[in-house]
Amino acid sequence: MFIGLGLSCFGGVLAQIYYFKPQTILVSLMFLGVISYVIGLFMETFIPRQGMFRFLNPGPFNKKENAFAVIMASAAANSALATEVLAVQRLYYNITPNAGASIFLLFSSQLLGYGLGGLMRPILLYPSKMLYPGVLPLLSMFDALFEGGKAARKKLKVFYVVFAFIFIWELFPEWMFPLITGFSIICLAAPNSAAVSRLFGGTNGNEGLGILSLCLDWQYVSGGTNPMTIPLKAQFSNFIGYILCVAVFTGVFYMNIWKAQNFPFLSQLLFYENGTQYNQTLILNSNYEVDPTLLAEQGLPWYSTTWVVNLLTTNLGLAATFTHLLLWNFDDLRSAWSWATPSAIKHWWAHVNWKFWQNDGKREFTTEEIANLDPHYREMLKYPDAPNSWYFVTLICSVVISLVVIYETNSTLPWWSYVVSVLLATISILFFGALYAITGLQFIIQPFVQMIGGFLNPGKPMANMYFVLYSYNSVSQAQLLLRDLKIAQYAKLPPRAAFTAQIIGTLLGAVLNFILMNSIIKNQFEILLSVQGTNIWSGQQPQQYNSQAIAWGGLSHQLFAVGQRYQWVPWAYVVGLVVPVPFWLVHRYFPKLRADYLYTPVICYYISWLCVGINSSILSYFLVAFVSQWWLRTRYPRWFAKYNYIVGAALDGGTQVMVFILSFAVQGAAGTSHLFPQWWGANQNGNYDHCMLLNTGD
Ligand SMILES: *[C@@H]1O[C@H](CO)[C@@H](O)[C@H](O)[C@H]1NC(C)=O
Ligand SMILES: *[C@@H]1O[C@H](CO)[C@@H](O)[C@H](O)[C@H]1NC(C)=O
Repeated sequence: MFIGLGLSCFGGVLAQIYYFKPQTILVSLMFLGVISYVIGLFMETFIPRQGMFRFLNPGPFNKKENAFAVIMASAAANSALATEVLAVQRLYYNITPNAGASIFLLFSSQLLGYGLGGLMRPILLYPSKMLYPGVLPLLSMFDALFEGGKAARKKLKVFYVVFAFIFIWELFPEWMFPLITGFSIICLAAPNSAAVSRLFGGTNGNEGLGILSLCLDWQYVSGGTNPMTIPLKAQFSNFIGYILCVAVFTGVFYMNIWKAQNFPFLSQLLFYENGTQYNQTLILNSNYEVDPTLLAEQGLPWYSTTWVVNLLTTNLGLAATFTHLLLWNFDDLRSAWSWATPSAIKHWWAHVNWKFWQNDGKREFTTEEIANLDPHYREMLKYPDAPNSWYFVTLICSVVISLVVIYETNSTLPWWSYVVSVLLATISILFFGALYAITGLQFIIQPFVQMIGGFLNPGKPMANMYFVLYSYNSVSQAQLLLRDLKIAQYAKLPPRAAFTAQIIGTLLGAVLNFILMNSIIKNQFEILLSVQGTNIWSGQQPQQYNSQAIAWGGLSHQLFAVGQRYQWVPWAYVVGLVVPVPFWLVHRYFPKLRADYLYTPVICYYISWLCVGINSSILSYFLVAFVSQWWLRTRYPRWFAKYNYIVGAALDGGTQVMVFILSFAVQGAAGTSHLFPQWWGANQNGNYDHCMLLNTGD
């Protein structure tokens, strides 16, 4: 509990700092796993086991305790989507709901998904085929560490050394010498060319595509996903997507598609046709609804073209995923839905106990049924389950609180629309949750939900944000809960303990998210509103959310309907359905071409990989992936099996701890920032890689 609380604070704060970074970065689960082990070991060794300290060291640190701490911390180490809504309201609507309403908004939106997901445990958690492959490296590391002995000690030693090295190293790219976030000879050679800046620049947010730039900042190399953990086969699709991305982005800009050259090359904001930033308050009436006469005065807003490409390819990717799974993974799909066969439903109907509130967590099975259970689940039967009533109460409380909150905060979301959002979440959890559990693929369904919300509540951007909050966020929260419960099941942590850890972590994380969000917005307000932001802070995420809410929630009909300017964005759903078919046919008839190496949905998503943030990291990303997953894996397979993941976790961890410290010490997370004095390697008045700084309209 002590370690879990500590790491929850670390994770909750760091996740919110990362939310305001130019690149979307996640707190590393592997690192939380190892560091909680290290702290546990430390407490076990150095805290006396008698007297007043006894409660801090009741005995040897064990695997279940470790799982408990990780679950708590991983629940906290997310930036709650509700802070996104609150941030947008402050940045763009000048609304600051009172702290009480904000906290209840956070709690209800974070817990709603837990209630829904928890009630689906029999479908999405207990069966063996619901594997959650993403957590397996963590569990195998637990096994290795708790086995003890010489091998575990050697592993830990490698962890300490790498951790210490990267911890010190990060001082340079993150503070003293940011030029090495992206060392680009081309930028240094041609510092005054706008075209060079767009193609080769990449050390600052939304600067350029960062081609051939060498990044020595592990934070950005490993930002979204650690390249050491993805098999080369999957990286191949990323690489093809990357090449296509460069080609497509350059193409649309220089062919001036959707007036690309009027707007910044990369941006998440909305603009007037002449390139001035769009002022959305001028088209909204006092109820924050779009007013047609005001809209006619201002004209429809425009996106940066690369951002339209991003919307388009995300939809393309989502639709392609369906066809891809149908063609290649039909058996997985069928097993994910086996609970929906008539016989399974009949069986469930016969056994269901409607008085769920009387369920005390005892589970009874016949001997024959027990033989068919998942072996991990069977071992869990000795513990009482967290009864359904706990999840049901969580659900009811969240629903009641959120209904109060949406009226208290003037969200403009009507209650019936809220009900639809919860139903949409329920269906999505069943569908996407099962796919996530089996394949580990997390689907980007946010744009889809935004679209549905936009058609339900036309002309109401704010309602759209709340709609997305309660449906999309509930889906991700449900997946998070089920994943963590699966960790508990693999580690044999009693379900009630897992439930407790999850709830405490979530609530604590939400409060910390809220505090940090207020502090960062207060201190970095101007930067968060600008197109580029800086290398440290950026409003790219609230900007995206806001632009999407205005476009989909306020103006979906005018912008996206058939015949309108961005009509290809929704059409991409149709096109995406057929994208995987040719590749599948090619593989059927010419298997030698290895078309099965091409994951078309991944390629589609990656066509817009560079649409936001710091792009200088791509070359280094692929280099690391190649060295780890090809060179080490094929040449030194034993070393790879022993150390690859632990080195990856140490690199992520050392980086993230240093970033945590620097954020407060010098980067202004809670006060003014103290940037390193201007010198060649820290070009504070321009882009760090010395590429030309572009203004809107250049
Ligand atoms: C662009 O158009 C908007 C709205 O018509 C106007 O307010 C703004 O001043 C214009 N900007 C420039 C640079 O002309
Ligand atoms: C948008 O317009 C409102 C109302 O006229 C004004 O108060 C606000 O400063 C404008 N915002 C920007 C960014 O120009």
